[in-house]
Amino acid sequence: MMERESLFTLYRLTDKEFNLISQLVYETVGIHLPPEKRVLVESRLQQLLKQENLTSFDELYKRIISDESGILLSEMINRITTNHTYFMRESAHYDFMVQQILPRWKNEPYRDIRIWSAGCSSGEEIYTVAILIREHFSPYRPEEWGLLGTDISLRVLEQAQQGIYVADRLENLDPLLIRKYFLQLDENTYQVKEEIRDMVLFKRFNLMRETYPFRGKFDIIWCRNVLIYFDQTHKERILSHLVDVLKPGGYLFIGHSETIEREKYGLTFIQPAIYQKEAA
Ligand SMILES: C[S@@+](CC[C@H](N)C(=O)[O-])C[C@H]1O[C@@H](n2cnc3c(N)ncnc32)[C@H](O)[C@@H]1O
Repeated sequence: MMERESLFTLYRLTDKEFNLISQLVYETVGIHLPPEKRVLVESRLQQLLKQENLTSFDELYKRIISDESGILLSEMINRITTNHTYFMRESAHYDFMVQQILPRWKNEPYRDIRIWSAGCSSGEEIYTVAILIREHFSPYRPEEWGLLGTDISLRVLEQAQQGIYVADRLENLDPLLIRKYFLQLDENTYQVKEEIRDMVLFKRFNLMRETYPFRGKFDIIWCRNVLIYFDQTHKERILSHLVDVLKPGGYLFIGHSETIEREKYGLTFIQPAIYQKEAA
């Protein structure tokens, strides 16, 4: 009976606790949680409270701020934000890359191409890029390519590294590509083959960082369905950083439901959700 009751215990998030948590989220990852998100936060953090054997959100808050590893904070952010993604999402971007960008790179004598998926979640976006590169570049020379996937959440980065997905994440992918680049683990589960996994480096990176210390600049930055979480101030700061680390003439892809004031960043509109940095 006790067991049964504990399964259904709902821990209440008071206004005071909500304010503490939303302030922490805002300060660390820039995500603004308006008061109407209180119920959502309350329900999404129930499991975390149980996992940590805690009985109030106040205790959870205290544990998070005293956890120097930042792992618990990351777990909380994880549950509050949406990590949903899939292969070939918003496929017009991939069509553009294959039809307009890759053919130009093919003609370059030496390639040092760098592509970044900023807010990569469980990796489907950057793996789609990797698969298309493999399809269109033969022979493939690993030393010419740098593919990077970053996210704030360690949990999704682990999934990305394993590259294991349920079948519905692959629904938009050509069955020929699935056969060629995935191993079927069981009826409903696929794993990206090692040759594709090896093409991508996954790292934790908080887009709220003051500096973006990358060694080289990028040819394409995919930052799709991420900016949506940030308020205007943080979004502008992140966008300036992203444009800063883009090569002149490089491309920025954002989500189709997102908007940016391109003039502020020296970007040219190419087609919906695709922008190009002005050449030097
Ligand atoms: C909806 S997913 C987008 C995945 C993929 N780009 C796409 O469009 O399908 C948003 C991702 O942004 C990440 N994110 C949120 N805030 C972040 C931050 N401050 N720094 C880095 N990543 C962040 C989340 O963890 C989540 O995985």
